[in-house]
Amino acid sequence: MRRQMRELRVDPAELILPMFVREGIDEPREIGSMPGVFQHTEDSLRAAAEEAASLGVGGIMLFGVPETRDEYGSAATSPDGILNRATRALAADLGNDIVIQTDLCLDEFTSHGHCGVLAADGSVDNDATLERYAEMAIAQAEAGSALLGMSGMMDGQVAVARAALDEAGFEDVLILAYSAKYATALYGPFREAVDSQLTGDRRTYQMDPANRREGLREAMLDVEEGADVVMVKPATYYLDVLSDVAEASPIPVWAYHVSGEYSMIEAAARNGWISREAAALEAITSIRRAGADAVMTYYAVDAARWLRAEG
Ligand code: PBG
Repeated sequence: MRRQMRELRVDPAELILPMFVREGIDEPREIGSMPGVFQHTEDSLRAAAEEAASLGVGGIMLFGVPETRDEYGSAATSPDGILNRATRALAADLGNDIVIQTDLCLDEFTSHGHCGVLAADGSVDNDATLERYAEMAIAQAEAGSALLGMSGMMDGQVAVARAALDEAGFEDVLILAYSAKYATALYGPFREAVDSQLTGDRRTYQMDPANRREGLREAMLDVEEGADVVMVKPATYYLDVLSDVAEASPIPVWAYHVSGEYSMIEAAARNGWISREAAALEAITSIRRAGADAVMTYYAVDAARWLRAEG
């Protein structure tokens, strides 16, 4: 009866796995702050992506960890940069089996670790950054990314990427707008995952956790600018914002179950204090119940396995 009356069933196709590919390593490296998650070599990335595809996971979101960084994040736009190189290889091999997506942001590539380029006074220069994002959109589309995850929180970023894609004739490349992206403590473990160079914080461009109305407003602006998907991030602390956006949005709404949300479950589970599988599936179910159409989660592959076993 419980099975029959269930209101919601999670499908692996609604899960997107974030993955890290690191330049200049010979073996995959486990990320200390995210047990079970790896910085991949290009080879191990492919094997892990194949596994995700074979389990029916909907997509993978790629992050690059470059060997060298500079003020402008040059490696982000070089066709040979680690992210573009890995995207090209995966799109060619697996593009028909799983959606290959890319993170479109400068923070992994800049020497200062900010999501944009800096003005003379050290602040992030919104409009100069937009030019870099437009170049990045083209570089990633050329590499074969099917969906650009715009995570930088610059004002106007979706509009410039959309215009650049249109002008270059990329009609089938989608834009995922990280619309309501909060300046949260929950990105902590991710800093190690991408070897972040950031010393300060991102409060001048990411949102204040206290602001609910603003989350909806940011999402609606991105719809107007031409986004194909809007997102709320993090997920479980922000289910109210997610519910608001899901109710109002004419386009798909996703949520990102971020590194800290993952690592808190892992830490407790590794201490024997919580059931890993039950806690992870409950988190994903709650995010879907609040209105997300799909969930980005480091649990995507495990969850796909658990869901299959459940039947
Ligand atoms: C920025 C970006 C971040 C995350 C995804 N994209 C870091 C940040 O904004 O500080 C965090 C994801 C996570 O914590 O899992 N490119």
